[in-house]
Amino acid sequence: MKEKLIAAFRARYGRAPTVIAQAPGRLEFIGNHTDYNGGTVLGASIDRSVWVAVAPRTDGQWQFASATQEATAILAAASAPVKQSGAHRWVNYPLGVIAALPAFGLRAPGGFDFLAMTDLPSGAGLSSSAALELAAALAFLALSGQDAPRATVVQLCRWAENHFVGVPCGILDQGVSGFGRPDQLVFIDCRGPGFATVPLPAAARFWVFNTHTKHALVDGLYAARHRECLDAAKALGVPLLADVTPAQLEAARDRLPPVEYRRAKHVVEEIARVDATVVALRAGDLAAVGRLLTASHRSSQVLFENSTPELDFLVDQLAAAPHVCGARLTGGGFGGAVMAMTLPEFSAAQATAVALAYEKRFGRRPEVLRTHTGDGAALQ
Ligand code: GLA
Repeated sequence: MKEKLIAAFRARYGRAPTVIAQAPGRLEFIGNHTDYNGGTVLGASIDRSVWVAVAPRTDGQWQFASATQEATAILAAASAPVKQSGAHRWVNYPLGVIAALPAFGLRAPGGFDFLAMTDLPSGAGLSSSAALELAAALAFLALSGQDAPRATVVQLCRWAENHFVGVPCGILDQGVSGFGRPDQLVFIDCRGPGFATVPLPAAARFWVFNTHTKHALVDGLYAARHRECLDAAKALGVPLLADVTPAQLEAARDRLPPVEYRRAKHVVEEIARVDATVVALRAGDLAAVGRLLTASHRSSQVLFENSTPELDFLVDQLAAAPHVCGARLTGGGFGGAVMAMTLPEFSAAQATAVALAYEKRFGRRPEVLRTHTGDGAALQ
């Protein structure tokens, strides 16, 4: 990928890049919509990434290009970047990072040429946007001779998403891309936030089934769930839903409208599932981990209502298949992908059988990715 990126950069800008950064996509292992509620979550950085190459310019321009697009976005370097629309909308992720830098006591870079390249499918719920933010942040910091603690980089990338792009996401995607390591899961206590890793048992394998479906209102639905959770916390008299135990929620059930109760129940029980998953992982009990993964999906399906018939179908098929420990939607939901954790015996032929059953039902074959854990974001 690095050689391909350098060659594409030369072809586009007529010179070599001076800085290259790479940041991986992530699997949300378990902890669905727990992050912005102050809870805990587990994720895995995967072996598919966004790569960014940059070189300085002296004419005060920022030139943004992506390997998948002909057009280059040419902007005047400014300390307060302006949000882009249309074909250049993707530039909002690196631009948001630039907008975030001063908020964290860091300097925006001067003029540069920028090229992004990826082998991470977008729209699959694997966090291509967070990967782009992390790779851009590392590249901009290196280009301007600055350094920052990894937790700061992660938080400024979330800031970009919240305050520039306009999505009220939590810290999961950026945290996992920033702190991921091969054969480890990233554990995030989202309130600090605090980042740690938990070893993944050697027998665990990951398969991703990307439905290529995306609810037309996905951003609005995500924001609506976010609001419902904050409203539920307010009605319960706590700052965040993570401040309530499942027992306390049951005791206060009458204080909540039914929809808010369901959302809150999902979140508080999901946080308990994350903690139980850590215990099961440490004990090497993949069967117990798998049961928790599938229970998480059922809770998304019934209580949080962020699943879809396509995702449910895949989970039903996978949960019934031999050598599958568990399966669940991964990421925000309302479309995207299902992740299955399997034993090594689960075969490509079995994955194809699931894909064919899906095609028979929905008329389109999902993309099947055998995914491995991979390195976290780094300069290359
Ligand atoms: C998206 C968001 C994350 C998180 C998940 C749901 O991936 O970006 O912050 O809220 O959805 O768990």
